[in-house]
Amino acid sequence: MTPKDVKTALTKVPTHVAIIMDGNGRWAKKRGLPRLAGHKAGTENLRRVIRASVEFGVKYLTIYAFSTENWGRPQEEIEGLLNILAEVIDRELNELHREGVQLRHIGHLDRLPPTLQEKVLDAVELTQNNTRLVLNLAFNYGGRDEIVCAMRDIIRAGIPAEKVTPELVSEYLFTVGVPDPDLIIRTSGEMRVSNFLIWQGAYSEWYITPTFWPDFDRDEFYKALVDFGHRDRRYGLVASDGSID
Ligand code: IPE
Ligand code: IPE
Ligand code: MG
Repeated sequence: MTPKDVKTALTKVPTHVAIIMDGNGRWAKKRGLPRLAGHKAGTENLRRVIRASVEFGVKYLTIYAFSTENWGRPQEEIEGLLNILAEVIDRELNELHREGVQLRHIGHLDRLPPTLQEKVLDAVELTQNNTRLVLNLAFNYGGRDEIVCAMRDIIRAGIPAEKVTPELVSEYLFTVGVPDPDLIIRTSGEMRVSNFLIWQGAYSEWYITPTFWPDFDRDEFYKALVDFGHRDRRYGLVASDGSID
């Protein structure tokens, strides 16, 4: 398909796509490899999906890389995942910057090794004025944790109860300034939210595929966007063409 054909086929491109990158462990197991090999393959794939996001005109891409619950995994896997994050930043940052990608982080950095915290903050600072694609990295992120932090900050700011609205809460989340996700993709077939963007995803469309994350390539991503293009987002109203079915 030429770039022009791609644009024509994608009737509605979601502004914000969020991805639960799941299935790295099973991808590795299927090949008789250690789980960390799956995580490494997953980061290789991320590069492809970032490129595809730029190609398809997605403006915000949020990726769930490590949840607040993932600290419960074996120490070796946790350390491996922290190392992979450091390696990915070292390896990819310059190219991402050149391509106009702005990196943001959602979640808490404080539990990460200080050198890694610095690496993430430096990458965020370096890329802060880029506008082609906002890449939101959810690392040590949990939706409930995010909402609790927002509530605490609202109380600390002395905001009167009647001034607390959904719009105000959104301003206190890690995602402040980022539109809610239009589409949430989960790979590996699991049908659960796993504490991901539980506030922001209130009206997101979901796309779940059995494909494991390392195999979710550009064409699979494209299929997800085509599927999204056929959705009728009703937001609790009636069908946009007035039909009842
Ligand atoms: C997703 O893959 C990556 C992280 C949660 C860090 P998994 O590691 O959850 O892979 P499965 O679900 O065990 O296959
Ligand atoms: C969700 O996947 C977290 C990330 C992809 C980072 P998990 O594999 O941790 O979620 P559960 O345990 O299947 O709910
Ligand atoms: Mg998993």
